[in-house]
Amino acid sequence: MNNEQRAWIEGVWEKLQIKLRAECQRTGANIPFIPLQGHYRDCMMPGGLTWWTNGFWPGILWQMHHATGEDAYRLTAEDVGKRMAVILDNPRELDHDIGFLVLPGAVTQYRLTGNPECRSLGIRAADFLAGRFNEQGNFIRAWDKSPWAEDVSGWMIVDCMLNIPLLYWAGRETGNRRYASIADRHAETALHCLLRPDGSCNHIAAFNPSTGEFLGGIGGQGYGNGSSWSRGQGWAVYGFALAYRNTGYPAFLDAAKRSAHYCMSALAANEWLPLVDFRAPAEPVLYDSGAGAIIACGLLETAEHVPALEQQMYRTAALHTLQACEAKFANWDSDTDGILFGGGMMYHNDRLAGQAYIYNDYFLLEAILRLAGKDFIIWGGMTNDRFQYTS
Ligand code: GLY
Repeated sequence: MNNEQRAWIEGVWEKLQIKLRAECQRTGANIPFIPLQGHYRDCMMPGGLTWWTNGFWPGILWQMHHATGEDAYRLTAEDVGKRMAVILDNPRELDHDIGFLVLPGAVTQYRLTGNPECRSLGIRAADFLAGRFNEQGNFIRAWDKSPWAEDVSGWMIVDCMLNIPLLYWAGRETGNRRYASIADRHAETALHCLLRPDGSCNHIAAFNPSTGEFLGGIGGQGYGNGSSWSRGQGWAVYGFALAYRNTGYPAFLDAAKRSAHYCMSALAANEWLPLVDFRAPAEPVLYDSGAGAIIACGLLETAEHVPALEQQMYRTAALHTLQACEAKFANWDSDTDGILFGGGMMYHNDRLAGQAYIYNDYFLLEAILRLAGKDFIIWGGMTNDRFQYTS
């Protein structure tokens, strides 16, 4: 990394501290999704506390507490944690995104403070996720209902690659291999049925839920079948790199690299700015800055696991996309909420396009902390604390 890049990272870290200190004071234990008229509201999406992005605000607070030692972040995160403690009381409102809900919040709180109630919530959440495993098809069922089809009981989605770290954590924590084995089997299926040979991926893979037969890929939140939804590409590169962190299984690292190379090419072809879908018509131009931040984290994680001479390529590409996103989309005004605007929930009918989703800011923060050497790895343990891959 050169001096100019180091100065940019330092500058963004300074701005993050000013902005997040102000947001922490203003927002407190309210749980944000996007700012409306400049300010966050509490739990504004259907499902209230169970909405899938609700773990990212406590995730920001715990990362900031870990990096700065400031108590205001910890106290606020603990207040959010008390509110989130009831989420498993409402299992009908939950789906495979339980990992996004508890890993950055309760599980991180347990790992940083030893709180036993948070450990218990994390294990119960892992049981819920493991309970969605389809033995015939070797995948974790994503949803119970969807506006896209009547029966989605045979669907897995690439996003779950960031939920299975909950199972690896529970496996390490309890010594019960069953959790890790389910995660291994799901990741192996994702490798064969979601990732394509060129490193692009399907959002959704459909199976016959009774026999486990693979029926085909579905475009989901992307442009269409055969396209390449960029946030899904982020979940793939980061998820496979984390599966490698959690297992040491070489095929997962190869998958992360394949996916990383595809993402780097697609980003480089568009001035390092992430379109919502890397394979969509030239017009309209729709961005997903959150995808850029997630891909950057995935590239930085991949760099952790390759030999020294390979690392620079991934780190430089991560930096390029972060710099491009920051220059085009960041709002550093500390009187208003939300940093990384330019988000996109999905390609079609996105009535909230351009917003600063809370996960955009979480992954921007995580990427900057990684580059500054101040991150806490929420999605995995130490590489010397692995289960042997068993699938
Ligand atoms: N379910 C996570 C996402 O929409 O990216």
